[in-house]
Amino acid sequence: MTLLLAPTVLAAQKPAAAVPDTATITPAMVDAGRALFHGGGTCFACHGAKLEGTQLAPTLIKKDWKDAKGGELGNIYNVVTRGVPGTLMVAFPGGISKGDAANAAAYVWSVNHRGAKP
Ligand code: HEC
Repeated sequence: MTLLLAPTVLAAQKPAAAVPDTATITPAMVDAGRALFHGGGTCFACHGAKLEGTQLAPTLIKKDWKDAKGGELGNIYNVVTRGVPGTLMVAFPGGISKGDAANAAAYVWSVNHRGAKP
């Protein structure tokens, strides 16, 4: 029984392993995330070019996070990859990849926590 369950548990944990750790965020990831935010990810169209928010979507700067609890990197990543059902926030906006989503999350997190340029 244990042997049968083990692979299931490992599979369930896999997505979490893909979540970037704040310690592994590099300037290159932040730059890539910024380009994506203002480009292919289409994030800017709803969240604003400086993450200030628009009528369509909330700001992504220092705030009471609603969906990305605490504004933690993993939670931001989860919102980008899972979306917020029933809202304009879809999973993988602009059809971005998982790697792109990780970079976009690293960018949003770094603007909030490391003074990265929006
Ligand atoms: C079509 C509009 C739209 C696009 C494009 C979009 N978002 Fe969103 N996003 C929203 C909306 C609306 C919400 C708020 C959902 C709700 O009502 O809870 C949201 C919520 C979020 C949140 C959670 C905010 C919180 O308060 O916890 C994050 C993080 C986020 N978006 C990041 C991104 C990123 C990164 C991209 C680009 C890869 C992106 N979004 C693209 C509309 C959009």
